[in-house]
Amino acid sequence: MTNPFKAALAGKHVVVVGGGSGMGKATAQMAVGMGAQVTIASRNVAKLSAVASEIGGNVTTSPVDMTDEPGIRVWATSLGTVDHLVISASSAAHGAFADLPTTDLRAMFDAKFTGPYVTAREVLPYLAEGASITLFSGVLSRRPSAGATGLGAVNAAVEALAKGLAQELAGRARVNCISPGMVATKAYADMSEADRAGMYAQVGKALPVGRVGKAEEIAQTAVMAMTNGFLTGAILDVDGGHMVRA
Ligand SMILES: NC(=O)c1ccc[n+]([C@@H]2O[C@H](COP(=O)([O-])OP(=O)(O)OC[C@H]3O[C@@H](n4cnc5c(N)ncnc54)[C@H](OP(=O)(O)O)[C@@H]3O)[C@@H](O)[C@H]2O)c1
Repeated sequence: MTNPFKAALAGKHVVVVGGGSGMGKATAQMAVGMGAQVTIASRNVAKLSAVASEIGGNVTTSPVDMTDEPGIRVWATSLGTVDHLVISASSAAHGAFADLPTTDLRAMFDAKFTGPYVTAREVLPYLAEGASITLFSGVLSRRPSAGATGLGAVNAAVEALAKGLAQELAGRARVNCISPGMVATKAYADMSEADRAGMYAQVGKALPVGRVGKAEEIAQTAVMAMTNGFLTGAILDVDGGHMVRA
């Protein structure tokens, strides 16, 4: 039997902004395995090169900083035709409502909302027929948590962006948003190993699946979002049951 994902992705150009780490890297790796030509983008050139060598196959690197609008404009012109744009890059700011510095809040909106907005807009002229755009939010959008109100708000904004674009870009591109639960990635690299393991155990225990997620599990959903021509305007909760937990 033909693999429908492979059949739909083979030979397609997939651009993953955030492809240097975590879920973006796993998505890039899976897309390459399905025969796609993949461009990975993020800020750190050395990291991108190391990841491209690790993945091997049909991967090219193309550095970009999503907070640099003129830079994004130039970068977009260098991509050629794009079949699928995946934007997993982001930054997060945690802090109590009364304490979180406004500069941190603005920087987070800049990287996680305005960055993907501008990136999608600048890549739009280069999208091929049948293209898709996949954005990333997170469970805090609809299940807020104390100390992460700003992060919840930016995630909700990204989801609204995906739904709005699905309507506005109808006929040009399908647009979906993946909302991950806690997934073990470099996003938590700043914590000590012990603290990180403790957090994963605690969060995992509260979920119906009993553990936190793996980047590959999110990549499976990204591949589905790229290849399913009937999917648009969807918020895909891949969260181990976070939304239905007690
Ligand atoms: N991990 C989780 O538990 C979790 C939970 C809910 C939602 N999410 C969301 O899921 C998405 C993927 O998360 P992840 O854990 O895979 O992240 P990650 O491992 O931290 O990777 C983030 C990537 O984004 C790049 N990046 C950061 N800022 C950038 C910028 N301004 N311009 C370009 N690239 C930038 C980073 O590379 P450079 O630093 O080299 O630029 C890195 O490659 C994010 O939107 C995140 O908010 C994650």
